[in-house]
Amino acid sequence: MVIPNFWDATTVQKLRDEIHSIVTSADLSVVNSVFSTKEQERSTDDYFLTSGREIRYFWEGRARDENGVLINSLEESINKIGHGLHDLNPEFERVTYEPRVGQICRDLGMEKPLAAQSMYIFKQARVGGEVGAHQDGAFLYTEPQSVLGFWWALDECTLDNGCLWAVPGSHHLGVTRRYRRSDPPSAGGVEFVPLEPVVWSLEGAVPVVVDKGALVLIHSSVVHYSADNRSPVARHAYTLHAIEGKEGVNYPADNWLQRPSEFPFREIVN
Ligand code: FE2
Repeated sequence: MVIPNFWDATTVQKLRDEIHSIVTSADLSVVNSVFSTKEQERSTDDYFLTSGREIRYFWEGRARDENGVLINSLEESINKIGHGLHDLNPEFERVTYEPRVGQICRDLGMEKPLAAQSMYIFKQARVGGEVGAHQDGAFLYTEPQSVLGFWWALDECTLDNGCLWAVPGSHHLGVTRRYRRSDPPSAGGVEFVPLEPVVWSLEGAVPVVVDKGALVLIHSSVVHYSADNRSPVARHAYTLHAIEGKEGVNYPADNWLQRPSEFPFREIVN
């Protein structure tokens, strides 16, 4: 579902300015995690697994040429920032916990929406990587399924710069697999386990071409993806994943994303 003009131009610019100042003040020379999304393989080191409570940086897989030299500037080589921006940066906190967000969660049936994770996605010009087809319920898994994705465009999203694609009707599917911490920890520390034997098809997928400021809402089962970006124009987006926190909904202890008890997921009130 698309809600155009959810954010005005001033809000969009403020968030872009904020991310610019975060990135330019960070010591990116120490970051070496690459975010590889083609097969939904994440950088599964500790840097990634503890990122739910931090502001962390992940490189584009195609950021460097065959000689290891950055194709873009450092700032233009980041794939994404995750996953605690909404609780650690006042500007992103403000837009995440604003009443309209809580109202949407409740209008869609949530009783106690919790902000589980946020990502700032750069989809950089020329080197922005594709994100393979997936369901968000695999990564923010609850019993029963409850995750609601908020995806805000901070640029015009076009067929050229890697807009979202989604399969209409796929919200009727079950979530087919789950991404969890492995026990005992295997190489990488995470694994996919099969859930419902549902077969996806990307046939009929539609491009979600939206202008900056638009909000795209994504159901836990909706199959969605985005192509890489070879264009000269970046395609920034900010995403939030809300989960149901009411009594009786289980957030398993082996989900990849965990918070320490002193830094729990916060409710989005309205
Ligand atoms: Fe997603």
